[in-house]
Amino acid sequence: MIPRPSPSLEMAQPRRMPPVFLAALAQLLAFALTGSVMLSLRIMGWEIDIVPILLTQSVLAVAVSFLMGMPGWWLAIQAVFIPALAAALALSIAPTWFLGGFVLLALIYGRTYTTQVPLYLSRRRVWLAIRRQLPQAPGLRVLDLGSGLGGLVRHLAEARPDSHVSGIESAPLPCWIGKLRMMGRRNAHIEWGDFWHADLSGYDVVCAYLSPVPMPALWEKVKREMRPGTLFISYRFPIPGVMPSQVVEMNDLGQTELYVWRV
Ligand SMILES: C[S@@+](CC[C@H](N)C(=O)[O-])C[C@H]1O[C@@H](n2cnc3c(N)ncnc32)[C@H](O)[C@@H]1O
Repeated sequence: MIPRPSPSLEMAQPRRMPPVFLAALAQLLAFALTGSVMLSLRIMGWEIDIVPILLTQSVLAVAVSFLMGMPGWWLAIQAVFIPALAAALALSIAPTWFLGGFVLLALIYGRTYTTQVPLYLSRRRVWLAIRRQLPQAPGLRVLDLGSGLGGLVRHLAEARPDSHVSGIESAPLPCWIGKLRMMGRRNAHIEWGDFWHADLSGYDVVCAYLSPVPMPALWEKVKREMRPGTLFISYRFPIPGVMPSQVVEMNDLGQTELYVWRV
């Protein structure tokens, strides 16, 4: 069991509205504007074809998203979203395919639409670098926040049979796969849950491979809950404005780095 903090200690998640909701809001506003324009033209006696209506919706969705300050790649999604939807509907694909695709994506990615931390897996090179950071003392307790398929957890548990390695993962399918991979292992386990609700005070080393979005709030949680002298390790994503105790170059094509903080 991953320990939970008392409710008063529980860390709040980042509060900013996730981009997927902003994007939906922008489409709705664009829809209202497009509808008003088209209705006005209709009242004036104009017959409007479907293509200009779709184009107007796309252009207005991009404009509203831009005014909301959404990043460039979201503007591209907004531009193609409604035309792609219309094209998919025109293909008369059975709705069960869309439902099946939705369920599969939900199982793989869970609440990525709010966490803004998608599933992508770290490689053996990273696991080895993290393993080298582990203190030699026996009985270490290690936690991987967002453990994906459990690759790091399994590697560290095998390399350090004297330790106990845990993972916590919120996406259902990766979590189930991780649990299966830990079966029969005495010193490793993976739990389904949200790491914002986990208590970090019982761990000697906490690892994270997430995204830039949660890092500032996660650092606040680390400072509040982890004991002095313990290690917080983040692969790829630094904490803005907080100097790490050590930076390890991965010497890979992406020139990625491992950041280590002694709390
Ligand atoms: C980039 S992947 C890293 C996977 C794994 N740690 C590795 O190194 O291969 C990040 C994972 O964190 C999970 N995640 C994101 N937010 C989470 C949360 N609040 N609680 C638990 N898991 C979360 C995602 O579902 C995703 O599987």
